[in-house]
Amino acid sequence: MSQSIDTGKRRFLTAAASVVGGAGAAAVAVPFVSSMLPSAKAEAAGAPVEVDISKLESGQLLTVEWRGKPVWIFRRSPEALTNLETLDDALRDPNSQVVSQQPEYCQNDTRSIRDELMVLVGICTHLGCSPTYRPDLAPADLGADWKGGFFCPCHGSRFDLAGRVYQGVPAPINLQVPPYHFQGDNLVVVGEDAQGAA
Ligand code: FES
Repeated sequence: MSQSIDTGKRRFLTAAASVVGGAGAAAVAVPFVSSMLPSAKAEAAGAPVEVDISKLESGQLLTVEWRGKPVWIFRRSPEALTNLETLDDALRDPNSQVVSQQPEYCQNDTRSIRDELMVLVGICTHLGCSPTYRPDLAPADLGADWKGGFFCPCHGSRFDLAGRVYQGVPAPINLQVPPYHFQGDNLVVVGEDAQGAA
């Protein structure tokens, strides 16, 4: 992983921060890049965070900090996107009808602007723990039906790879999609939509 930062432009130049192993392998820890913050003041004020995703490969996830919260950016494989379509019956809000949980432009099947690229606030909607990224299929501890997603270690809430909450867990609503937009192919601006609104 190589990282550098141009503080003047508040821009992260971040290679993939986490690599997930092959089938059966546990996800590795996801570094939290708070040390790369442009400035504590700017962050506290909610300054947008620019993230270079050019090196983010399929299945990989990186974490940045925005307004004191972890925000995940991850690239979904074609298989993961196909799997999302099969989960509706197991989910509490498959169509993202709780409008507080995503901007209008992400109230769609993949909860994203670009299908393959997902942006989520990494805080459980139950009591605020940070769930664990588990993109692996059918791991022993999560069961044969697991299609990849996020597992909250605090009280067992489960979310799919669009951040949609499963039924029968303590978390009441989907994970939040923050405002964001793209600048060109490889830059995500977290914390601001295309019109500049936060
Ligand atoms: S905080 Fe995540 S399940 Fe309770």
